[in-house]
Amino acid sequence: MTIIDIITKKKNKEELTYEEIKYAVDGYLDGSIKDYQMSSLLMAITINGMTNKETFDLTEIMLNSGEKIDLEDIQPVVDKHSTGGVGDKTTLILAPLVASCGVNVAKMSGRGLGFTGGTIDKLESIPGFNTSIDIDKFKEQVKNINVAIVGQMGNLVPADKKIYALRDVTGTVESIPLIASSIMSKKLASGASTIVIDVKVGNGALMKTESDAKALANLLVKIGQQHNKKVVCFITDMDEPLGYAIGNSLEVLESINTLIGKGPKDLTNLVINLATYMVSLGKNIKLEEAYKEVTENLYNGKAYKKFQELVKNQNGKLNNIKISKKIISIKSQKEGYIKHINALSLGEIARILGAGRLNKEDKIDFEVGIVLNKKVGDKIKKGEELLKLYINEKEVEEEKILDCFTITKEKQNPTKLIKTIIN
Ligand code: URA
Repeated sequence: MTIIDIITKKKNKEELTYEEIKYAVDGYLDGSIKDYQMSSLLMAITINGMTNKETFDLTEIMLNSGEKIDLEDIQPVVDKHSTGGVGDKTTLILAPLVASCGVNVAKMSGRGLGFTGGTIDKLESIPGFNTSIDIDKFKEQVKNINVAIVGQMGNLVPADKKIYALRDVTGTVESIPLIASSIMSKKLASGASTIVIDVKVGNGALMKTESDAKALANLLVKIGQQHNKKVVCFITDMDEPLGYAIGNSLEVLESINTLIGKGPKDLTNLVINLATYMVSLGKNIKLEEAYKEVTENLYNGKAYKKFQELVKNQNGKLNNIKISKKIISIKSQKEGYIKHINALSLGEIARILGAGRLNKEDKIDFEVGIVLNKKVGDKIKKGEELLKLYINEKEVEEEKILDCFTITKEKQNPTKLIKTIIN
């Protein structure tokens, strides 16, 4: 077997065997297969796709390339994943909310690249919050208070780490089987028994069309079934940012508001729906029963109390969250209704202000970002505020910000956030 035979086979649209995929993945990991050879294979896969069997095999091979977290002694554990989007702070709300219903959430999250930070960056904008506790302490905390959120630990799925870095610079990120095996190998290695996945679709997301998002969701569910894990996928809109806040500290503050029942409608609605499935599956109760418990805890203070407990257990100081005092109000130059808000461009603006990274080693400015004053469907007058910029060192031209908004004379409906649920 040679890598050239394997590339040629995929180029000719033939199905690869388990052994051929393993040869390519293991060879790339040990350095015997070079970047240019793996890039060529990844491009052939991106163009010609993979059968379900190939995708299942690739997931298993990547899963077995490194360590796995053993959570057997604290099962059932539910996990949540989002394919990522602008203003997506759901984990910060969801984890304590679900835990407040007595369901274990042992969450490993990442840092962000692009837009704003990832969940771990957002949590680190809470002064003192420790995101790197060891595995024993992590499990102990879940046993004691039902929830812990930490950064990546252990050498989980090294094959994905190396292959993803290559995909990022070779135009091979958007392949559905490659995305599905990448997400699921990491989720399976993290040890949860139930996984709820928020597949974002739209201009600010990896999946640009609903049919691609559905194809990805179906594949994620099927891979879960192969491994006896219950996977539920939500397909949700990412054409406009989620909630109003974009930027690390600002998103933590919006999450706190949501945890006391005073959050934005779209964010609150999404969190309640995701939590309902997580609690229903985690406790093996009906959706209606789970929904009742989730909404009660969001409005009776229990979810926020659990968040305070989580922060305290990980050494964070909630009364010391800093946001920039330099605030610029951007006003509309038109009257009408908001038809579209370009999530991708606003995410890019937040990144330029310092809220995200372009390179892994860039330092994030937790204090900066954007708070919208309007969402799709809202009416706006000329001179009325569209958003506030929280800035420190970097600035962005006003025109670039105004270009993110499409305003029309015709009335617009608010965006339908949850499009489909697949399980
Ligand atoms: N997220 C992942 O973890 N992997 C992908 O391939 C894409 C998004």
